[in-house]
Amino acid sequence: MTDQGFVKVVLVTGGSSGIGEAICKRLSAEGHRVFGTGRKVEAQPTGYRMVAMDITDQGSVQRGVEQVLAEAGRIDVVVNNAGLGIQGPAEDITPELAMQVLDTNVLGAHRVCRAVLPGMRERKRGLLVHITSLAANYGLPFRGFYSASKAALERYAEAQRMELSPFGVHVVTLQPGEYRTRIATGRLRPGSIGTAYAHAYERVMAVLGTSLHYSRDPDEVAVKVSQLIRQEAPYGVHYSAHGLQRLSVLLKKCLPTRLFERLMMRHYR
Ligand SMILES: NC(=O)c1ccc[n+]([C@@H]2O[C@H](COP(=O)([O-])OP(=O)(O)OC[C@H]3O[C@@H](n4cnc5c(N)ncnc54)[C@H](OP(=O)(O)O)[C@@H]3O)[C@@H](O)[C@H]2O)c1
Repeated sequence: MTDQGFVKVVLVTGGSSGIGEAICKRLSAEGHRVFGTGRKVEAQPTGYRMVAMDITDQGSVQRGVEQVLAEAGRIDVVVNNAGLGIQGPAEDITPELAMQVLDTNVLGAHRVCRAVLPGMRERKRGLLVHITSLAANYGLPFRGFYSASKAALERYAEAQRMELSPFGVHVVTLQPGEYRTRIATGRLRPGSIGTAYAHAYERVMAVLGTSLHYSRDPDEVAVKVSQLIRQEAPYGVHYSAHGLQRLSVLLKKCLPTRLFERLMMRHYR
């Protein structure tokens, strides 16, 4: 049972893998009624329900949300977690490829909000947790469209927080550092890399492939979500990151741009 004996109905998009799956497992183990989503649902896990939902399709989102409402009667918390990565020199990424990432990471979260907000506003309570990324704070080399999508979601959430506060609906963002999930293998990438960028691109990707990156347990992010949903009125931007990754946010705020970017490129060398 949760604090105050209050079980929350939680919808976690992208519950089939990585961070979303860790959130589903932790929250359901804590006694919450959890619904995860995936584009294909083949088997039901123990402890929570999986619902089919493609967040790039408003009809699919609407059907998924209606299924949760039919089964649970309400949605208290939405964790907008489903997302995609993308890598490649910006010049080599076609607008069509970039659009897939923006459509998932930004408009996908928006579609889910549009489906759940009428119910939350009517009940005058609710919490939206948008999973963004530390990458929202700066342009990562060769992952510019990923940074752009997460920065867009941060600004979207900021505006949404002000619009929704009169309705008792809280909006927070949670920025993870790098965690051990399928995100790296599933990143979209251009068909070919222009030779002008090939050397620098391969070097950055080699650094990204080292154990330094993507080694931490995604349950750490789930712990943060659990803490957020226990709060009476959660607010603002939250982080789930350690060491140099966490420090990078502060450095970005304090250092001159040129120096920050030099340090970033040195890290990837
Ligand atoms: N791992 C990290 O280091 C890290 C760091 C910062 C932020 N994040 C963010 O954390 C979130 C989760 O990523 P992850 O690392 O756990 O990656 P992951 O293991 O690749 O999981 C991605 C999830 O998103 C779902 N998804 C993708 N496209 C979808 C769509 N069109 N409709 C519905 N669901 C879709 C996938 O579900 P199906 O494929 O089953 O449909 C999967 O459950 C993402 O927003 C990511 O940007 C991750």
